[in-house]
Amino acid sequence: MKIDVLPTFGRLTDAQLSETTVIVVDVLRATTCMISALNGGAVKVVPTVDAGDAVALASRLGARECVLGGERGGIKINGFDLGNSPSEYLTRTVRNKTVIVSTTNGTGALYSVRSADRILLGAMINRTAVAKAAACEGRDILIVCAGTDGQPSADDLTCAGAIIDAVRSFADLGTGSLTDMAIICENLYKNWKNGTFDLSSTFHYRRLINLGFSEDVDFCFTPDVTDTVPVYREGVIIKL
Ligand code: MLT
Repeated sequence: MKIDVLPTFGRLTDAQLSETTVIVVDVLRATTCMISALNGGAVKVVPTVDAGDAVALASRLGARECVLGGERGGIKINGFDLGNSPSEYLTRTVRNKTVIVSTTNGTGALYSVRSADRILLGAMINRTAVAKAAACEGRDILIVCAGTDGQPSADDLTCAGAIIDAVRSFADLGTGSLTDMAIICENLYKNWKNGTFDLSSTFHYRRLINLGFSEDVDFCFTPDVTDTVPVYREGVIIKL
């Protein structure tokens, strides 16, 4: 089993995506919110890159059937029901609904890997569960990070490292199993965990705190809140 990490999403070849288990990570906050929505009883999550497409789909489904959520630049999109705080995706708002989401980076990352035959959603809150699910598939693992506006985001890289570290409990990762980027991410996670690496100095993490979302950040970096593992297939995200 080989594990690799892409710090940002972009054009991926079929060769990179075939026979691979892809884990999409946007820990602050898109995949954390999508996991929370399914955990809260949403029937499914439909990610759209374009906010207008999200609105059009919501109007077709009707307000009784769906909830419209998402952000641009961290702030709730005007006219949407929800922003992108995990605490908004609770049972009382999403239960038995279709949650349609559009975010700055996370939904684009999902779209970029749509041709893969196995796509899981990962975050810190389902770190061990997603690591176990991916390891049990027995295939190479490619962790695709959303990043921020086309740049690597330390929060995603740290979360990727946390997932890699968790995979070790379910698979024998011998020398050469991890690419250099995977090794870097795992060490970033270990340094964050032991307090020698402070994420609060990094761009997206700091921006969310400055926007007043420190509770979101704390929750998004709480490990193993849930064993919910979403799978993305044919444009729809459901529980594995
Ligand atoms: C993203 O798509 O990068 C995140 O959803 C941004 C955010 O939640 O602020």
